[in-house]
Amino acid sequence: MTIRLSALLLLSVVSFSAAQAESLRASVTVQTDRPGSVIDPGIYGQFAEHLGRGVYEGVWVGESSPIPNTRGIRNDVVAALKELGVPVLRWPGGCFADEYHWRDGIGPRNQRPTRINTTWGGVVDDNAFGTHEFMDFAEMIGAEVYVNGNVGTGSVQEMAEWVEYMTADNNSTLAQLRRANGRDKPWRLHYFAVGNETWGCGGNMRPEFYADLYRQYATFIKTPRDNKPQRIASGANGSNTEWTEVLMREAGKHMDAISVHYYTLPRGEWKDKGAATRFPESEWMSTFKRTLRMDEILTNHGKIMDRYDPERRVALLVDEWGTWYDVEPGTNEGFLYQQNSLRDALVAAINFNIFHRHAARVRMTNIAQMVNVLQAMILTDGPKMLKTPTYHAFALYKPFRGATHVPVEVSTAEYKLDAESVPAVHATAARDQAGALHIALTNLDPHRAATVELRLPGQTIKALQGQILTAASTDAINTFEAPDAVRPAPFKVPRARGDRLQLEVPAKALLVLSQR
Ligand code: AHR
Repeated sequence: MTIRLSALLLLSVVSFSAAQAESLRASVTVQTDRPGSVIDPGIYGQFAEHLGRGVYEGVWVGESSPIPNTRGIRNDVVAALKELGVPVLRWPGGCFADEYHWRDGIGPRNQRPTRINTTWGGVVDDNAFGTHEFMDFAEMIGAEVYVNGNVGTGSVQEMAEWVEYMTADNNSTLAQLRRANGRDKPWRLHYFAVGNETWGCGGNMRPEFYADLYRQYATFIKTPRDNKPQRIASGANGSNTEWTEVLMREAGKHMDAISVHYYTLPRGEWKDKGAATRFPESEWMSTFKRTLRMDEILTNHGKIMDRYDPERRVALLVDEWGTWYDVEPGTNEGFLYQQNSLRDALVAAINFNIFHRHAARVRMTNIAQMVNVLQAMILTDGPKMLKTPTYHAFALYKPFRGATHVPVEVSTAEYKLDAESVPAVHATAARDQAGALHIALTNLDPHRAATVELRLPGQTIKALQGQILTAASTDAINTFEAPDAVRPAPFKVPRARGDRLQLEVPAKALLVLSQR
């Protein structure tokens, strides 16, 4: 009996390792003769809210801080973001936007009022980071600005005056106030949104009610002719297409863009979302299954928009997306601080691939959020700072910004776990303005490498260089002690045969190939 059992055990161990060793198969055909839409660099935008340690500590430390800073803004974070390039930055919320009164954040800092951030942890906000500091930060990192206005607790007049304060180029009282506060020239205001999540934290409105409010507020976004922001309507929660339908029907003519928010929650519920690290394989699987829903969400909102706006004048902006886990043990529930692992980097890659496919309509997205909050690019701990795996995914996709999307046809084995499965290999491709082709391949299978047959019909494949992001475990992270544990490494591209190239993409990896 004992002997038979151990033999069985041995057999199962052997077949398990055999399955692990055997690679899965996929073919990826890049349809270079069918160029698609230009991938707006704005697709790689970010979001910074007055939430937890996102703005205060993550960006703003104040001029008297021992942490090296320029006019109160930390130098290490600015350097990391400049290196990455942030095409556009959304601020000040989120839910916080509908509680934010811009006059609180101007003038001498020691005279600014202190307010309670009732949405995020009930902490006090001393308003040290206001319009001037935000604009200074955006200029430092070279980002276009996306300011989110307050509908929930604001007024049309307050919103109109904020816009005037930022953009007036004449001698109006508000322009003079801006000058008295240290800024002579108006700022360029690229995007302005009328409220946030007005179906929820922004006021629990019905779409019909908000559509009318939107029309009223948007009427008074008045700026000099050469400084017209794109006017953004607060959009739907995930798959709620009724919201988009009503907004497009009632207010579509008055907007330049409408947003949609979709977060990846491993367990699909808000109470018990799942941990950022030490998660079971079932949550690796469910995280990707839920991330892949982004495609269907964009398709469905896009179909409605196509009916009202076949010319695609109005953009669909995913101005909040990313993973949302349980907060790190021992941290404030309202601060939404979570670690960031290899899994997050692959979630980012899958989302990028989907955004590229929808590039004709999706012209900006803003990952939530930039520093120390949700799926962050950067984590800080006092004077220490690290770049997360998500930062590296953004960096690897840099060549796709402004490039022309090239469709890919993927035929792939599935990654399976119990009754669940997802396609193992995902891909995207684009040709940049210099004519070079860039291809990203993601293997979601955590055990098996993928043997990928890459085809570029009618082209000779040559001069490809590769960068790979992977790690020993699915939840590998960077820590303040080992900040470079997960980072891209050069990938040796094998020799191609004409228009074909066979590659081994390791398990749980993102590979980006670029023509030199
Ligand atoms: O990003 C965190 C929060 O998520 C935002 O404040 C809100 O808009 C969304 O619900």
